[in-house]
Amino acid sequence: MIKFKDNFYFGSASSATQSEGAWNEEGKGKNIWDYWYETERFRFHNEIGPYEASTFYKNYKEDIKLLKETGHNSFRFSISWSRLVPDGFGEINKKAVEFYNNVIDEMLINDIEPFINLFHFDMPMCMQELGGWENREVVEHYANFAKICFENFGDRVKRWFTFNEPIVHVECGYLLGYHYPYKVDPKGAVQVAYHTSLASALAIKNYKELNQKGKIGIILNLSPCYPRSENKWDLKASFIANLFANKSFLDPAVKGCFSEELIEIIKKHELMPNYIKEDLDIIANNTVDYLGVNYYQPRRVAARASLPNLEAPFMPEYYYDYYVMPGRKINPHRGWEIFEKGIYDIALNIRDNYGNIEWLITENGMGVEGEEKFLVDGIIQDDYRIDFYKDHLRWLHKGIEQGSNCIGYHVWTFIDNWSWLNAYKNRYGLVSLDLNTQKRTIKKSGKWYKELSEKKGF
Ligand code: BG6
Repeated sequence: MIKFKDNFYFGSASSATQSEGAWNEEGKGKNIWDYWYETERFRFHNEIGPYEASTFYKNYKEDIKLLKETGHNSFRFSISWSRLVPDGFGEINKKAVEFYNNVIDEMLINDIEPFINLFHFDMPMCMQELGGWENREVVEHYANFAKICFENFGDRVKRWFTFNEPIVHVECGYLLGYHYPYKVDPKGAVQVAYHTSLASALAIKNYKELNQKGKIGIILNLSPCYPRSENKWDLKASFIANLFANKSFLDPAVKGCFSEELIEIIKKHELMPNYIKEDLDIIANNTVDYLGVNYYQPRRVAARASLPNLEAPFMPEYYYDYYVMPGRKINPHRGWEIFEKGIYDIALNIRDNYGNIEWLITENGMGVEGEEKFLVDGIIQDDYRIDFYKDHLRWLHKGIEQGSNCIGYHVWTFIDNWSWLNAYKNRYGLVSLDLNTQKRTIKKSGKWYKELSEKKGF
């Protein structure tokens, strides 16, 4: 049997924009997603936007009951900045304080430990109008927002995260044209990345000053990089891919500094951000207590086969090609490779290169299209999802046996939710959601997850 420690965290994760709904109710301000959907619906899958998120704002009590029924001893959600502080800074929305207090209290009554994340791709629109993460002033406003959260909820919440997958708003918002403000601006992207690391460190500083005796970390989507071969040029490609994909945020978060090799590349392409020495000190002195790791897929790379277009805006792919490994296992609905051993490689990397810092899996999951076809007697028989979890948990367990300091496993996600690029196309939940009635029904995986959590293994 694969057995985890008795105090191992089992749970799942969600985010405000993807689950709350009530996007314009009870004083909430607009975030970039609300604004973008209002102005450019055609950019959203089937024109379904965040307005149609899964109604956690109204149904949190019922949903927390379902958390209990699916074996959660912990749950991660995010606080919406634009709900709590609608103008970005200044007045606090009392209704939002009441809502998040209710959620936290309801979770605690049910013995579910809250993990709160402060930023999940959801920049308030008024802050974006100031330039978003490109502007140092917004960094300050974010740190204040974080402080407001600690002051209001930190008496009961002892596990915090400053950001979810910060590299996503850098890449998707400033390089790839996937998220608002869909710029293609490499220099802006580097500035945004640097300011995000600074914002995280400032939030950590604020947290420490309040002395609330909890832990604060950051959630990174780590994609272990694998070279096509041992050829030295493939190895170099993989080394550089790793600098961008993983070390860019891992190093400042855990070690308080940026990798020299990455800085060299950024300098070579004349992309250095504006910075001051005092801010670098803030990053150096305010590292994380623990790490959240979202793991979905590896990154396989090879030496570039062609010269990059020197006139095109710089992309990290200047240094490598993606390698499609024959025989790879794939989730065809999302197009992502499934490589379970990646979780073990992450565990050992953290053990060996990041001081064996405490960490947990904060997201791992499988989005499947057309799940209705697996419906038998009203319940989705998602055995493929159970297998997916088991296969990852085996490798995670192996990493723990070898000394990696992993304290939990959270899946993505609890109830089928709205997704940034795919709306409701792919379903990830332990609980299914009927979009017409909002009815929630526990899937086979949800029942299995309860057993897993009770037995602490399988
Ligand atoms: C993670 C995000 O990147 O992956 C979630 O933190 C997201 O917000 C999840 O929903 C699954 O990705 P997608 O694009 O299939 O929804």
